[in-house]
Amino acid sequence: MEKTFIMIKPDGVERRLMGEIISRIEKKGFKITRAKLVKVSKELAEEHYIEHREKPFFGELIDYILEGEVMAMEVEGDFSIEIMRLMIGHRDPKVALPGTIRGDFAHSLTKNIIHGSDSIESAERELKLWFD
Ligand code: CDP
Ligand code: MG
Repeated sequence: MEKTFIMIKPDGVERRLMGEIISRIEKKGFKITRAKLVKVSKELAEEHYIEHREKPFFGELIDYILEGEVMAMEVEGDFSIEIMRLMIGHRDPKVALPGTIRGDFAHSLTKNIIHGSDSIESAERELKLWFD
């Protein structure tokens, strides 16, 4: 069955949204197969977001991920990669629809509560990076 990597970012943990988010994942019928609360190292944060290293927002993004603990999760279920991206909602807060996690709880382009892998390749890479 398909597995995806989900991370509740520091603002999600700080704002006590872990329960709400885990509840949505479980009610959808997905299974959380691995999970850990971690204080991320700069090396891991930079490796996780390596595709964005040349972007102007990279420094701000890494500082944000290092702000506090994150909840790293492996989520399993049919089409979990695409469906979790739908449930997470758009990165742009002006586009994220109500009913999505970002649409309901975030209004910042950077501090947007949650990450989800965007493809089979990135899910495999990210699960290995965070859990192996
Ligand atoms: O997280 P997602 O895959 O939806 O978006 P992304 O385009 O891959 O960007 C990764 C993360 O970088 C976002 O979730 C934001 O936290 C951050 N970001 C930012 O701070 N400023 C931007 N202009 C774009 C993204
Ligand atoms: Mg992305």
